[in-house]
Amino acid sequence: MKPQITKAFPSTLVLVLSFFHGIALAHDTNEKFLQCLSVHSERTFISKVTYTQNNSSYISILNSLKQNLLYKPPEYGRPQVIVTPFDVSQIQAVLKCAQKHDLLVKVRSGGHDHEGLSYLSEVPFVMIDMINFSQIDVDAEAKSAWVGAGATLGELYYKISEKSKNLAFPAGICPTVAVGGHLSGGGFGYIMRKYGLGADQVIDAHLVDVNGRILDRKSMGEDLFWAIRGGGAASFGVLVAWKVNLVDVPSIVTVFTVQKTLEQNASQIHHKWQQIAYDLPKELVISAGLQSQKGKRALVATFSAVYLGGVDRLLPLMQERFPELGLVKEDCQEMSWVESTVYHFAFEIRASKNLELLLDRVNYTKYYLKAKSDYVREPIPVEVLEGMYEILYEEGGHNIYVISFPYGGRLNEIPETEIAFPHRTNKFHMMYFAAWSDGEESQKVLELDRKLYEYMTPYVTKNPRATYFNCKDIEIGRNNYGNNYTSVKEASIWGKKYFKNNFYRLVDVKTKVDPGNFFRNEQSIPSRIYRGIKKKHH
Ligand SMILES: Cc1cc2nc3c(=O)[nH]c(=O)nc-3n(C[C@H](O)[C@H](O)[C@H](O)COP(=O)(O)OP(=O)(O)OC[C@H]3O[C@@H](n4cnc5c(N)ncnc54)[C@H](O)[C@@H]3O)c2cc1C
Ligand SMILES: *[C@@H]1O[C@H](CO)[C@@H](O)[C@H](O)[C@H]1NC(C)=O
Ligand SMILES: *[C@@H]1O[C@H](CO)[C@@H](O)[C@H](O)[C@H]1NC(C)=O
Ligand SMILES: *[C@@H]1O[C@H](CO)[C@@H](O)[C@H](O)[C@H]1NC(C)=O
Ligand SMILES: *[C@@H]1O[C@H](CO)[C@@H](O)[C@H](O)[C@H]1NC(C)=O
Ligand SMILES: *[C@@H]1O[C@H](CO)[C@@H](O)[C@H](O)[C@H]1NC(C)=O
Ligand SMILES: *[C@@H]1O[C@H](CO)[C@@H](O)[C@H](O)[C@H]1NC(C)=O
Repeated sequence: MKPQITKAFPSTLVLVLSFFHGIALAHDTNEKFLQCLSVHSERTFISKVTYTQNNSSYISILNSLKQNLLYKPPEYGRPQVIVTPFDVSQIQAVLKCAQKHDLLVKVRSGGHDHEGLSYLSEVPFVMIDMINFSQIDVDAEAKSAWVGAGATLGELYYKISEKSKNLAFPAGICPTVAVGGHLSGGGFGYIMRKYGLGADQVIDAHLVDVNGRILDRKSMGEDLFWAIRGGGAASFGVLVAWKVNLVDVPSIVTVFTVQKTLEQNASQIHHKWQQIAYDLPKELVISAGLQSQKGKRALVATFSAVYLGGVDRLLPLMQERFPELGLVKEDCQEMSWVESTVYHFAFEIRASKNLELLLDRVNYTKYYLKAKSDYVREPIPVEVLEGMYEILYEEGGHNIYVISFPYGGRLNEIPETEIAFPHRTNKFHMMYFAAWSDGEESQKVLELDRKLYEYMTPYVTKNPRATYFNCKDIEIGRNNYGNNYTSVKEASIWGKKYFKNNFYRLVDVKTKVDPGNFFRNEQSIPSRIYRGIKKKHH
């Protein structure tokens, strides 16, 4: 006993001392960083958009786009400084001063990162919030648009619809997701089988690189332009804006949502969905959800769809290809494409065709979130689905929504090496999406989500067990990015799951454009030549 106590004492003291030392150091760096910024202030008005923890609006700015309630300090720390630039020169000043004073930089556009990696970090950092870069310029004649990184999908859909009812953009369902993170990781939604991912429709970009240069497609070169479409912009620079193609849609599209209980053959119908959804005409995307009901051993399967065409063509198609669903005219609604985007997120207010909902970026309920996801190549047997329900029936399991989107169509026609996003040849993507509120036991929900992921191991992709970068999951592996080197080999553990063999080309690009690994985070692409941060001498 005794020796242990005496041994414990000094090491505790050392810990405590180094803790205060750490705070003092962080504080010092902070001051120097701010002084450095102030040198740039007069020319760029940067002090007007610089917030430290002392500024009264710091917390409201941090929390306004903090979409996941799960991650909280202190394990994860808040930014030392938040800058909400409205001019590229301010981004350049932040990068320069952060490099000079060895501070990490993270960029937030919409704050929807599943792991909160855009606004939280274990090491002291500065957050660049792109909220003021949300300009959208739609050129309906050229069928293209420039979209600022901080613009949301809802804003983009709304602006497109103001110009034309026959143009659309193929990206995600949640209107508050911003294009900064979304298009740099892929971006899938209800018209992807016809037009691919959002990232497949990117034709130009503005990016500030590690040297503060503002690059476009031509000046960044095809390698870097390849990497930021699916490989995540966060490893390569600060994405300022995208230029995207707009795609043609008919004036009328048809939507439906049909629910089935187990008594109504939910499992058999879901099983059939797995066999046909990826192979339907490209104009049709049917998603398939599974969720248990709180406090009951009961399960509901939900099938939701967008069809680029009228109900008169959809019904015979469904009768021929998916009669088991028993779709009837009364289940369907015809509307414009942009109304379909409101329909699919506004679950509680399905009747609403209120397009203004697309513009609301703050006024909605936030949840605790955790998602894990898989790609699936072979249909999952009904007995295995039934085993899955057993996990969903456990206490807390009703918070997990198992939601699958079919691939195939256009997605599958594009080669896996075309952009950095590689997952083209799967039948569907399946996500174990947990969303819960205060009052639920977070630990329990997290455990169940992991249990489900474990359980599914034999039935999903292997070597690697692939997953979607935008469905970020820190549990599949991570960098030691604060004060330690993560090798290409170590990073490949998670990197190959997200990017398959495109991972190695991403490493090549990284090594070329950011050899010193300035842009780094828990799951950033490593540089081949980085050997650790500068040794500080104190
Ligand atoms: C409720 C919800 C619904 C979703 N629905 C869909 C969906 O339907 N389809 C789909 O494909 N995905 C969906 N996603 C996932 C979403 O696409 C990703 O989380 C995406 O990365 C979010 O982008 P963001 O800009 O909003 O998030 P942020 O948290 O701001 O950023 C995400 C990542 O990108 C980096 N980043 C952001 N902006 C920049 C920039 N300007 N320059 C450099 N790096 C940047 C951040 O540092 C961070 O690493 C959903 C997520 C949530 C939480
Ligand atoms: C935050 O506080 C500092 C110091 O008081 C001030 O210089 C700066 O302008 C404030 N930032 C904003 C955006 O008001
Ligand atoms: C914040 O306020 C504290 C005390 O009010 C002060 O000591 C500190 O220097 C301030 N920090 C910044 C960055 O202004
Ligand atoms: C930038 O964003 C901040 C925070 O949302 C806001 O208060 C400010 O007015 C914006 N500035 C400009 C020029 O848009
Ligand atoms: C469920 O499937 C069985 C066998 O395929 C069939 O006989 C039965 O009618 C179906 N029930 C419903 C409600 O569709
Ligand atoms: C937020 O929602 C409430 C209730 O639905 C509504 O009354 C209010 O106008 C909304 N505010 C904004 C800014 O949209
Ligand atoms: C750095 O990584 C090495 C090997 O992975 C590990 O042994 C060491 O503890 C790490 N150091 C820190 C400070 O995390």
